[in-house]
Amino acid sequence: MMKIDTYAVFGHPITHSKSPRIQQLFAKQTAQVMQYGAQDVPAEIFTTAVGNFFAAGGKGLNCTVPLKELAWQYADHLSDRALLAKAVNTLARQADGSIFGDNTDGIGLLTDLTANHGISLTGANILILGAGGATRGIVPVLLEQQPATVVIANRTVEKALAIADDFAILGPLQGCDYTSLQGRQFDLILNATSASLSGQLPPLPAALLASKGSCYDLAYANQPTAFVQWGIAHHACRSLDGLGMLVEQAAEAFYVWRGIRPETSAVIRLLNDERQLTDNSR
Ligand code: ATR
Repeated sequence: MMKIDTYAVFGHPITHSKSPRIQQLFAKQTAQVMQYGAQDVPAEIFTTAVGNFFAAGGKGLNCTVPLKELAWQYADHLSDRALLAKAVNTLARQADGSIFGDNTDGIGLLTDLTANHGISLTGANILILGAGGATRGIVPVLLEQQPATVVIANRTVEKALAIADDFAILGPLQGCDYTSLQGRQFDLILNATSASLSGQLPPLPAALLASKGSCYDLAYANQPTAFVQWGIAHHACRSLDGLGMLVEQAAEAFYVWRGIRPETSAVIRLLNDERQLTDNSR
């Protein structure tokens, strides 16, 4: 049996995950005695790996790509936001041994946009690029803020239409393909495709971003992603990547496990400083 409260992130690949560093910083800051590791877990061995982890006394897991849907199926019970998202990034073993599943991605994004960057979503025209698991995690939280509209554009239009259909009851939501964006403008464009990190972008009309609009890439990297660069080139008021969202979703997971909300701004600052050092050393 594990003596110290043990947590981990499971994913594939997992080598470059910043989650262990973030959780260790939170533990130090809040004086919690715990350990947090990372394990490479391909989808095929997910159920066995999670079963073994909890059987050995593990307290909680983060699950990342490509395991969020599997974690959703694994959980014995779900938060409302995880139920809606059909994806789980946080598992917690309860006192009775059952496994609780939550999704902290949406609230992580919301906190970073609104509290950290002062971007208001109420009444805004919002565009999401991509219609995968990441989009499912953020749509309910965005609609809760009562935007004027949320449009999901995707290369495979059927996937955008399916998500729009699933969540239509929550607010003004539409799905479309990229060509239908011609002539439209948005106050906030969120990139939830996996294209940006490999330097690719969906085809976007040059006038897509409204004046004083912002761009936000859910992905993050040591250098500005292709989408962050697109935002800068198109005069975005702010063009941000997802490092802040990563820290905020981790803080919410920490709260689920430990009942304490860590302070995030110092951690975001530290990680930002570290990646600038990485940049300069290249
Ligand atoms: P995640 O769980 O991170 O959301 P995913 O479910 O694999 O990952 O979804 C990836 C998204 O990125 C999809 O919307 C995908 O578009 P398709 O549904 O058409 O496949 C989108 N995507 C990936 N590469 C892309 C590219 N080069 N151009 C445009 N969209 C891309």
